[in-house]
Amino acid sequence: MSDILYDFGTGRSDPSTFPTEALQAAAVKVIGEQAEEITKYPGGLGHAGLRAAMAKREGEREGVAVDPDHLVLTNGSMQAVTLSAEVLMEAKGDVVLVEEFSYPGTLSAYRSLGLEMVGIRLDEGGMRIEHMEEELARLQAESRLPKFIYAISTYQNPTGFIMPKARREQMIELAARYDVPIVEDNCYADVHYEGAIEPALFALDDNPNHIYLGSLSKILAPGFRLGYIYARPPMLERVLARRNDAGSNYLASAIAAEFYKNGIADHAAVTNPVLKVKRDLTTAGLAAELDDVCVWSNPQGGLFVWVRVPDDVDRPKLFELAQQHGVAYLPGVAFHYANRNKPYLRLAFGHLTEEQIQAGIPVLARCIREARTSNAAREFETLFD
Ligand SMILES: Cc1ncc(COP(=O)(O)O)c(C=O)c1O
Repeated sequence: MSDILYDFGTGRSDPSTFPTEALQAAAVKVIGEQAEEITKYPGGLGHAGLRAAMAKREGEREGVAVDPDHLVLTNGSMQAVTLSAEVLMEAKGDVVLVEEFSYPGTLSAYRSLGLEMVGIRLDEGGMRIEHMEEELARLQAESRLPKFIYAISTYQNPTGFIMPKARREQMIELAARYDVPIVEDNCYADVHYEGAIEPALFALDDNPNHIYLGSLSKILAPGFRLGYIYARPPMLERVLARRNDAGSNYLASAIAAEFYKNGIADHAAVTNPVLKVKRDLTTAGLAAELDDVCVWSNPQGGLFVWVRVPDDVDRPKLFELAQQHGVAYLPGVAFHYANRNKPYLRLAFGHLTEEQIQAGIPVLARCIREARTSNAAREFETLFD
């Protein structure tokens, strides 16, 4: 296997926009000012300054008031994914509704917890409501209503799609009708390039059973391992009661709070245009190389382009060939709730250089053609049937 030259595999932001000097200055300042706090176990909700900054972030984007005392800082939003599931489930074998293709970290956490996942089919607007309704009715008839619905409605990982407001309202109405809470995972909302920003579910509905998950990984850096849960009482108390890790990283929180003391907009104004150029290079490369063979998403935000390949692509062979030629990507199977090997792949474009994207897409395209058993033109026009 050759070394990977074009790593379209991992969903990370652009390393060149990492604000090293500002963070160094912030670290020096907060270690001086908050040394005593750092010597203690943080416990509870976590650093007040960072909760205030993230409440402002969410509140300003959504145009609703967000109480910082209803935010619980976590060790990345991945801890929030696991913690919220632990709070809402009662026993192994409990059912959860997920997008048919979803974030592998969540799928793996839910599998470890013993949750039974039921996948809801997707289209360009996210989960299909009529399929969700069918599954809820079926599960109710079996006396196995889901314990919750897990939804990445904005710049979905892996598809990049955003759910329109009307569909969000339908989903909220359906969840209320069956009395099923929603766990909304919204870590990409501020990685926004163009187009309308659809409201978060929590801004459309004040049902106290819903849980909202946020992260600093996609707007700052995953190495901070900072995320949060926004939950209203009494759900908030249930989250806190379930937690037994003595709290999240106080030093990382203090540095991030100092960095974001005037809001997140300034840094987003630096990072998002850089990412947008890479999104454009990725989709332009696909259009130049694979227009007759594949279709792909054109996300208005987030870090991923979702590509549908023809059924006659030998998927294990493609993966192998791509690796041999220095290209990494994640195959459809990694995102499928039931591990089915569907004809898709996800390209993460955030951390490659522009040159790597421009050079890597043609290599991938050659591998796709080589892994096919025919030269037939593609027989599909859309990402989903
Ligand atoms: C949808 C989604 N949720 C959660 C996470 C976890 O992010 P972190 O734990 O770094 O906040 C990711 C990371 O890729 C993600 O895509």
